[in-house]
Amino acid sequence: MRNEQIPDRNIAMELIRTTEAAALAAARWMGRGDKNASDGAAVNAMRLMLDTVDMDGIIVIGEGEKDQAPMLYNGERVGNGSGPQVDVAVDPIDGTRLLSLGRPGALSVVAVAPRGTLYNPHDVFYMEKIAVGPAAKGMIDLGAPVRWNIEQVAKAKDLSVEEVTVVILDRDRNTEIVDEVRAAGARIRFITDGDVAGAVMTGLAGTGVDMLLGIGGSPEGVVAACALKAMEGDIQCRLWPRDDNDRKYAAEMGMDLTAVLTIDDLVQSDDVFFAATGVTSGDLLRGVEYVAGGATSESLVMRSRSGTIRRIQTEHHWRKLQALSGNRYTS
Ligand code: FBP
Repeated sequence: MRNEQIPDRNIAMELIRTTEAAALAAARWMGRGDKNASDGAAVNAMRLMLDTVDMDGIIVIGEGEKDQAPMLYNGERVGNGSGPQVDVAVDPIDGTRLLSLGRPGALSVVAVAPRGTLYNPHDVFYMEKIAVGPAAKGMIDLGAPVRWNIEQVAKAKDLSVEEVTVVILDRDRNTEIVDEVRAAGARIRFITDGDVAGAVMTGLAGTGVDMLLGIGGSPEGVVAACALKAMEGDIQCRLWPRDDNDRKYAAEMGMDLTAVLTIDDLVQSDDVFFAATGVTSGDLLRGVEYVAGGATSESLVMRSRSGTIRRIQTEHHWRKLQALSGNRYTS
């Protein structure tokens, strides 16, 4: 008898509907200078769709605590309650500023993993990160010097150090890392926002990005880890306190600020689902584009257990959607 598992459902195929809905709702706010309104539109749309997914989900990485976020707050239950018990990480818009200024690279993202397996950074909002694609998996160490890590990636990808391209969030707090990358001789692609996309690009061929370095959002680190699990890439993170309040908070919560969190600490499961849809066109995904009577979108869908990575182009037709769900997509 052949030793085959019967494939169970790929939730990621359902999750893509949640990121598409968020992207379609938020794209209408492109360039209108209103971060909160665009995020709110994405949250509402994603929330509605999440509840159609066959899962018993708890938001672990969400929009913050209940009082600040009316929906998709940490601890909120999502899904129709009938499927597997899972942790859910959402970033309805990664790059709200990009979207509100009409700049490239805003995404809508969701990831799902078995209950209790996603790392919870609580209110320590930032992490130092290093992310690489499959070629350099197991060859990085956040505790080692930047130069050493770049050399490792160069070796893994058969490049010279000068040919390695590093994505870094353009922030003052990353100045030291930028200096170290420059001293090593590697190239830098600065991004103004959106380090989930930056991390995902390290795992995909043809993006021209070899690694991501620098301090960015903690929730985004966990979401990126889900995608990198699916792509068999690698990521390590270390919580980064902004000030003494963060240090005090971490101590009270028993969180070790010195620990290097490996990809398996960030996602303690090999059964992870990840979906992302472009909101504004960028290097990773095309954004929502309007055509007569509808719109088009592009998404990435991944499942770690099968290793399948799908790039999905979708046509949305308002007339038919309206019949199903009223004016949700057209206003
Ligand atoms: P939001 O769109 O959720 O604000 O996040 C955008 C982002 O650029 C993330 O990709 C990144 O991890 C984080 O913000 C960096 O935080 P900050 O803008 O505070 O430096």
